[in-house]
Parts: sequence; structure tokens; C-alpha cells
Amino acid sequence: MKKVFVKSYGCQANVYDAERMTDLLSGEGYSETATMEDADLVILNTCHIREKAAEKVYSELGRVRDLKIEREAQGQETKIIVAGCVAQAEGAEILRRAPSVDVVVGPQNYHHLPDLLQRSRMKAVVDTEFPIEDKFDHLPKPTRAQIVSRGVSAFLTIQEGCDKFCTFCVVPYTRGTEISRPVSRLVDEATRLAGAGVRELSLIGQNVNAYHGEGPDGTTWTLSRLLYRLAEVPGIARLRYTTSHPRDMDEALILTHGDLPALMPSLHLPVQSGSDRVLEAMNRKHTADEYRRIIARMRARQPGLAVSSDFIVGFPGETDADFDETMRLVADVGFAFSFSFKYSPRPGTPAAERGDQVPEAVKTERLARLQKLLETQRVAYNQGTVGQTLDVLIEKPGRLPGQMAGKSPYLQPVQFDTETLAVGEIATVRIIRAGGGSLFGELIKAGDKVAA
Ligand code: 5AD
Ligand code: SF4
Repeated sequence: MKKVFVKSYGCQANVYDAERMTDLLSGEGYSETATMEDADLVILNTCHIREKAAEKVYSELGRVRDLKIEREAQGQETKIIVAGCVAQAEGAEILRRAPSVDVVVGPQNYHHLPDLLQRSRMKAVVDTEFPIEDKFDHLPKPTRAQIVSRGVSAFLTIQEGCDKFCTFCVVPYTRGTEISRPVSRLVDEATRLAGAGVRELSLIGQNVNAYHGEGPDGTTWTLSRLLYRLAEVPGIARLRYTTSHPRDMDEALILTHGDLPALMPSLHLPVQSGSDRVLEAMNRKHTADEYRRIIARMRARQPGLAVSSDFIVGFPGETDADFDETMRLVADVGFAFSFSFKYSPRPGTPAAERGDQVPEAVKTERLARLQKLLETQRVAYNQGTVGQTLDVLIEKPGRLPGQMAGKSPYLQPVQFDTETLAVGEIATVRIIRAGGGSLFGELIKAGDKVAA
């Protein structure tokens, strides 16, 4: 059997897509390998969101080319595929910069992979046209063994693409226009996942809370309605969704937090900046206070809600005063954890064209200050759960023998001692200490068990 190695960069949509590609290729006689050195087919599933991400791909391609040459000397063939958002954005440019690549395929075209591999025998191929048909309808379903090997917490892509056009972002260009998958397909996929032991679903999409899929009754369903439906799937104990936009946090979704027990109290709601001037220039279409109000309303529904965010520092024209507003917003909201980045000009986006780019040294200094504050908040948030009794979904064995590791409702990694409990069970654990990356707890009560 031939072997395929997939390396994914960037967001969870890519993790999910990588799994779908592996499922598809298993039908073509490829089994998955975790080591690139023995792969007959190497797929780099790339991310274009920031400059460094794309540069990393080109340097990785250098390594893969060396491997291809080495294997060739031993009479073995290695095919190289570049998938993902760099593939979409750069297209044929990739073949120019990295001639050892066989196939360049955009995120909406993965279902063409068998055909592309076939065609690449003659000549390298590029497939980045947005197709009319939906790739998800053409990708095979994972087998039970594949699902089991991926663990009890699974991603489910419910929505793709983005129509928001934030002025810094390439996503609307690389992932295309917003589409939502129909409810019935999602229920089928969730049922299949749950049947193989999955207990937690993270619904994903670039704009997941803008979900507007076709319901079984022919009407358009919102994310809130979909969450209620998926909570009914036997075996599914926990639901999460990411990534959301503040503009799409509608009343029904806010009410679902607190009303639907399966919906976990964690929310990734990127705000990017705390300055109204910058938010406007970013085309975010909301103010910092509107963001504060959304969080306040949600916390009233689900006290303890773990809020996380993304931030960009050094957006063109950002002044010291603008940055201070970001620091003030962070201090006001209090985040459980966050991702923060220096603004990186992306070709083809409006902000990249602006003449008032912020000097690198200023970006570096602002990022360091912001990250220090965010890290203090992360530590304080975790410390705040010490002494609490939390439900932990067990995902894997812990670091030490006799330990298991899982996640709290607030998405914190938790380790605790147990000789009897298994992956997939939900245990009640009292948190006794917060370490650097994990919480440590003691088992209070064995939780529910679901036969798959
Ligand atoms: N520069 C820096 N960060 C960016 N992001 C998106 N585009 C850029 C860019 N050009 C960040 C945003 C987004 C996250 C996924 O990546 O914070 O929420
Ligand atoms: Fe990019 Fe903005 Fe769309 Fe998010 S909402 S994917 S940041 S354009």
C-alpha cells in the first residue's frame, strides 16, 4: 500500500480538510503515515493568513524536494501536493518557485484529487478554479477506524468562506464566498461520528455564526437551531463552535448559551482591536463598546464563560492612542486566552495598499505589551478555576502512568489520576492546581458512559 503524509498549517478548517483528503485517498490505495520520509505522497495543506505562514511553506517545500531527490536515487517516487490557501492564492507561482511540486489544489477542489494525481503523471497541474459543485458532496465519509483514531473530540465543518471583507484579510479571496452545508448532511455526519465514539463536536467555519443552512423542512436554519438539533444526536455530549464574528452574535445564539446544556461555556469571538477608528478602517462594522455589550450579555447567560479573541497590532494608521484602546478593552473584558499578531500586509487586500504602514519596531513593542497582559489574564483565568469542581471529557492518557487528560467545559486541558476511567467518559474532577499549560485535579465522581 502506498503512503500519504499530510502536514497542515493554520486553522481548524485545514485540520478538517486534511482528514477529508486522507479519507479520499484511502479509497485510492493510500494509507496515512506520520513520517514524511517514508511517504509516496506528501501534501502540504497551507495557510495564507500571514506572511510568515506562506514563507514557511516555501522553506518546507525545499525540504520535501530534497527528500524527493533522495528517494528518487533509491528508485522510489514521491509526489508533492500543495493544498490550502497558499495554493489558492499563489496558483501557478508555486510551480515556478518550487518546480518539484506535482499538484497545486485550492481548498474548494479537494474532491478532484484522484483525477489531479492521474493527470500530474504527464505534467504538473494547478486546480484553483472555484467549482460549481460542493466538495463536501463529493468527498467520501470517514471509516469507523479513521474516526476512532482521531479521538473523541471532532471537528465538523458546517460553513466555509467569508463575505465580510475585513480590509486586512485574505480569507474571502482564498476560501471564497460564504456557503453553509445543509442540516441533514451535518446530522448524518454527526451521527456517524458519534456512532464511532465521538462525544464532542466543534462546529467550524470561517464565519460559523453566520451559518444559514437549508433545514430538512426547506427553511433556512440558524446556528442556534442547528446546535439544538445536533445536541439530540445520541452520544454527543458537548458542542462548541468557532470562529465567530461579533456582527453575527444574534439574540437566539446568545440565548442558546445557558439554555442548551450541551453548548459549552467557551466562545472564540475575535475583536482584532479596541479602537473604533481602527475597527472602522478594518471594515469590522462594530464598535468596541458593542463588543463589550455582547460579552456582558453572554456572561449574564453563562457566568464563567471563557472568552477568547484574536488581536492584530500595528494595523496601518494605528496610533499609540488606538493601541491604548486595545489594552483598555482587554483589561475591561478579561480573556481566558487569545491569539495576537503583528499586522502583516497581504497582497490584494485594501489595507496592504495603505501608505501609513506602522514600523516593524513599533509593532514588536505593542505586541509584546499586549501579549504580556493577555498572558497575565490567561494565568489568572486558570487560577480562578482552582477549587472548582468541573466536568472533564477524557481525551487521552495523561503524561504519567495512571493519569488521564481531557478538557474542562472552558476548554482548559486537565490532568488527573484514575485507574479505571477511559477515553470518552466524562469525569467530575476537582481542580487542585493550575500549572503552566494544564490544570491538575482529583477525581470526585466517575461520569456518564456512552456505549458506541
Ligand atoms: N495580519 C495579521 N493578522 C491577521 N489575521 C488575519 N489577517 C491578518 C493579517 N493580514 C488574524 C486575525 C484573524 C486571525 C485568524 O488571523 O486576527 O482573526
Ligand atoms: Fe477574514 Fe474578516 Fe472574514 Fe474573519 S470575518 S475570515 S477576519 S474577512
